[in-house]
Amino acid sequence: MGCKLSRALASREQASKEKDLTDPPPPPPLDPRIPLSAKQKFNMVKSWKGISRALEPTGVYMFLELFENHSELIGLFTKFNQLRTRDEQAESLELAEHATIVMNSIDEGIKAMDNVDFFFDLLHQIGASHRKIPGFKKEYFWKIEHPFLEAVRLTLGDRYTDNMDNIYRITIKFLLETVVRGYELAEEKEPNDNVKKAVNSSEANTSKAEKGS
Ligand code: HEM
Repeated sequence: MGCKLSRALASREQASKEKDLTDPPPPPPLDPRIPLSAKQKFNMVKSWKGISRALEPTGVYMFLELFENHSELIGLFTKFNQLRTRDEQAESLELAEHATIVMNSIDEGIKAMDNVDFFFDLLHQIGASHRKIPGFKKEYFWKIEHPFLEAVRLTLGDRYTDNMDNIYRITIKFLLETVVRGYELAEEKEPNDNVKKAVNSSEANTSKAEKGS
């Protein structure tokens, strides 16, 4: 009798182990700060694998599209601001290197969407880092929205369905809002960085002059 019971229990345990192997776990509840449904985020992460494997060509195409429509922006990039034609840009190692750095940080951001606090920290920091670029304006971030979508479309080909188009639009908008916010938070913390430094040094000069007199 005891033996029968333990056999029954063992077979139930076995059945539940098998069930664990076949049924995918239910998706964890989504952080409400993410503007995607659980299903959309699942599709996004799955689709992004195709981009993850092709970060450099996707990034290069994204920058070619950016400079095609906003040729004045290439002037901000000290390492390749002299490249004029699309062909020169397409062949530039410096441009490819920068494109890869930017795509790597987008990749890190998208993979961090499960940990929203980390996602915000990472992208706020990237946004803030653009404050040190001479001539950069926060409005420029939005200029990469369309080039990003075009580059993802090219890399994914047939896999870029209307449904994925909608999901990528929501995702890049969310990502860009977050980098812009990071830029603004840094601005609030250190308004007019350079002006402040200039004022401080002139105060220092004034007090030196006062001591001297
Ligand atoms: C999602 C959007 C963006 C991300 C994630 C991003 C990311 C980055 C990162 C990680 C760096 C540091 C690279 C390094 O240390 O070498 C950087 C630098 C830079 N970014 Fe962005 N960026 C974005 C959009 C833009 C846009 C739209 C522009 C211009 C219109 C821009 C202009 C620059 C410039 C000029 C630098 C400095 C390059 C240099 O001279 O080293 N970024 N960006």
